[in-house]
Amino acid sequence: MTRGITSPRNGRAVRVAHAIFLCYVVIRAWLYVTLQLCIQLNKEVCMIMKKRFFSVAVPLTALLSVLSTGVLIAQDKYALKAPNGISFSEIRGYETWQVIAPSYRTEKKELRVILGNPIMIRAYKEGIPGNGKAFPEGSTIVKIGWSERTSAAFPAAIEPDVLQRVEFIVKDTKRFPDTHGWGYARFVYDAKTDTFSPYGKDASFAQECYQCHTLVKAKNFIFTGYPQR
Ligand code: HEC
Repeated sequence: MTRGITSPRNGRAVRVAHAIFLCYVVIRAWLYVTLQLCIQLNKEVCMIMKKRFFSVAVPLTALLSVLSTGVLIAQDKYALKAPNGISFSEIRGYETWQVIAPSYRTEKKELRVILGNPIMIRAYKEGIPGNGKAFPEGSTIVKIGWSERTSAAFPAAIEPDVLQRVEFIVKDTKRFPDTHGWGYARFVYDAKTDTFSPYGKDASFAQECYQCHTLVKAKNFIFTGYPQR
C-alpha cells in the first residue's frame, strides 16, 4: 500500500477522526431535521422528541468529541520518549533528511536506509570520521528499517514491505558523557495498531546499543560510511 510522505500513522488517525466527525455531523443533522418536522406536526410528540434530542445528542456529542480527541492525541509519534529521556521529536522532519546509505541485514532480511541531519552530512563531506576527527555536537543519524518483499512487477527486485522501527543516535556530549557523547533512541513500529512504542524497559537499554557500536569506536561509533554517489 502506498502511503503519503507524512507519517503513515498520522494519516490513518486523521482519516479515523474524519470518519468519526462525519458520523457525528450526519447524526446531528438527522436529529435536527426530525425535531423540526415534529414541531410542525404535533407539539406533544415534539416535546418527547426534544427530550430525546438532548438525551441522545448531548451525550453522543461528548462521547464523539472524547473519541476523536483521543485518536488525534494518540497519533502523535513525536510525543513519545525513549526511557533515557530522548524524545522522538528530536528528529522531527527526518522523513525528508538526506540519505547517507542504504543497508541490508541478511539475518533479519531487513532493508534499511540511514539518513543524516545537515550537521551530520556536512561532517561526512569534511572527511569525518576517516580523518580521525569526531562528529560535531548536534550530529544526528537515523535508521529506518522495513521487512522485505519480492516486487510483484519484477520478481528479481526486493522492495520494502512493512515498517519495523525508526531509531537514531544524537551527539550531545553534555547529556551523554558516559557513551562518548552519543545518545541512543529506538521506536518500534506495530503495523497492527499503526503505532510506535519506545524500545527498552529503562535508561540502561542504551548500554546495549553503545556496546555493539563500540565495535566501530575507530569510526567514532558510527558503522555507516558515506559512499560515493
Ligand atoms: C548487535 C549490534 C548492534 C546493536 C545492539 C545496535 N546496533 Fe545500531 N547498528 C549496528 C550495525 C551493524 C549498524 C550498521 C547498519 C545496519 O546494520 O543496518 C547499525 C547502525 C545504526 C544506526 C545508523 C548509524 C550507524 O552507526 O551506522 C543507528 C541510528 C543505530 N544503529 C541505532 C541503534 C540504537 C538506537 C540501538 C539500541 C537501541 C542500536 N543501534 C543497537 C549494530 C547494532
